[in-house]
Amino acid sequence: MKWLKWLIFILAWGFVGCNGLNQDKNIPGDPHSFSQPNKVLATHLHWEGSVDFERKQIQAKASWLLSYAAAADTVVFDTYGLTIDSVRLDDNQSTFWKLDVPQAFLGSALRIALKPSTQMVHIYYRTGSQARGLQWLEAQQTADKQHPFLFSQGQAILTRSWLPCQDSPALRFSFDAELSVPPGLKAVMSASNQAQMQPSGRYSFSNKKPIPSYLFALAVGDIHFKAFDERTGVFAEKSKLEQAWQEFANLPPMIRAAERLYGRMPWERLDLLVLPPSFPFGGMENPMLMYVAPSLIAGDRSLTNLVAHELAHAWSDQILRHASWEDFWLNEFFTNYIERRIIEEMEGPAYAEMMLALNNLELERNLAQAKTNHQPTILAPKLLGKDPDLVLSAATYQKCTAFMMQLESKLGKKELDQWIKKQIAEGKNQIHTTNTFVDQHQNSLFATNVFESDIRDAWLYQNELPRNYERKPSARFASVEAVASIWQQGEDIRNLPTGGWSVYEWIYFLRAVNHGQIDPQRLHALDALIGFSQSGNVELKSVWFQLCLQHHYLEVLPEIENMVANTGRRKILIAIYKALWNNPITKDEALLWFNNYQQRYHPVARSSIAQLLGK
Ligand code: BES
Ligand code: ZN
Repeated sequence: MKWLKWLIFILAWGFVGCNGLNQDKNIPGDPHSFSQPNKVLATHLHWEGSVDFERKQIQAKASWLLSYAAAADTVVFDTYGLTIDSVRLDDNQSTFWKLDVPQAFLGSALRIALKPSTQMVHIYYRTGSQARGLQWLEAQQTADKQHPFLFSQGQAILTRSWLPCQDSPALRFSFDAELSVPPGLKAVMSASNQAQMQPSGRYSFSNKKPIPSYLFALAVGDIHFKAFDERTGVFAEKSKLEQAWQEFANLPPMIRAAERLYGRMPWERLDLLVLPPSFPFGGMENPMLMYVAPSLIAGDRSLTNLVAHELAHAWSDQILRHASWEDFWLNEFFTNYIERRIIEEMEGPAYAEMMLALNNLELERNLAQAKTNHQPTILAPKLLGKDPDLVLSAATYQKCTAFMMQLESKLGKKELDQWIKKQIAEGKNQIHTTNTFVDQHQNSLFATNVFESDIRDAWLYQNELPRNYERKPSARFASVEAVASIWQQGEDIRNLPTGGWSVYEWIYFLRAVNHGQIDPQRLHALDALIGFSQSGNVELKSVWFQLCLQHHYLEVLPEIENMVANTGRRKILIAIYKALWNNPITKDEALLWFNNYQQRYHPVARSSIAQLLGK
């Protein structure tokens, strides 16, 4: 009866095909997702949930609308530490389901049996105590210290710890949500948000433009709002609202600059959310609700280039979709370029030149270190068996920026802008691995003379810069270098022309003088005059403290402790803990402080520092 089986198979196949349900076939594999999108895609989410601060738990129902690309009797979702209470199909039909044995950071595949006609699956679940994508803060850990706060962080593979989903960056879904939170608190999501607090504690959201799971975001707390204009504003705790509004008030002209370059912003609104101090990144491009770290409020708008970066994602995320976290660089590559173009428009070319020179300085430092400590500066790494949340590094960004600038100098700014604009306007938004992207654009973007194979390999697969890389000097930094070299010879800083220097000139100065040995007394004199240890700019403070630790100027240890106690940004914490750890005299402080403050850190920051300290 073998032929009968075949006949049934062929008929079933034809049936699914004729149904017109097939779309994105041949989605490349993703080593960090169990989902099988070439069979079934979850295309729309209806999410109903309640947030319980006492239990530190979200209890929810996730209803997924399915789209079939092939005949399938099972749909697979990614989960991490979720308790599944029940699963239903369509109009409340029961079905068989199973959670696989969990695998380290990947979590467990949730396999749900489908009927041939199934269109929707409803998953009733609760989050676990180790939800890596959620941080529950006690009132004490917030700026205002009156109410608890919850925020999610999805990138890279953390959303599965609070939503059963097909957790791969290539896959996108639209959603609507109904959420209930304790009265007196406000909920916001990566969707169109209401300005007003709802006394009932009930909020509803909708985002019709499909987003990847890593951009599904939620925050709950005593959150207030102040508008910039009719389509932008800022959400923050009360005591931060006014400062945040002042600091980020150039969001509307930034959006207009980006729109002049690349067309209309894809969202009808874009609001900023200022997170509590433990937020582990500088910023996060959640659609319609850009997350920013409170440390970006430097007091002088000197860190708003990060806002330009997150804003740039609104355009760059429409160029292509990265197939997996191995291809993450494709996403940040275009983002960094668009960020740079926005900065050029807003601040002028000399400022953008400084940013680039600093980028290249850090990149070369990281490349030199990569040879000894295996810190990856490889853009397209192999990540099978590795936790992407622990390997994505600052060096990736720096190399992307250098690569993009090389491309700009070969192609010309106008051509590159036009290419980007065209990709966005065409709206194809294809899924790409590094290879498919490079192959597809071999004769356009990556014309062979720019991208011969050894050059391509240096950019993508090696800890090197290619032989044809041109370093672009910054005119403003040329004079900083001159000052740095005279200071190194023993001149008093008061006799040197540093008037009018921005934070970035000082950062460059501190990097430039870091050769040989520096007498701690001279660092003391420098700090007394310039006040680095008291600066509102965390980037400057971080470079300064690294220099102090390297040259045994330990009078600043209390300030350093203050910084690791009150900053949650992983990049800054890692730089400081590394500097503490590399100096035999301050190793104990590294361990003691980590021990004392790790509870304040976000799980991803905590794991990265623990890894660094060998814990
Ligand atoms: N999406 C990233 C942050 C991110 C990357 C989170 C990888 C998790 C894993 C965001 O767009 C970003 O790049 N933030 C940077 C700022 C930027 C100016 C380099 C940051 O937070 O440092
Ligand atoms: Zn980014």
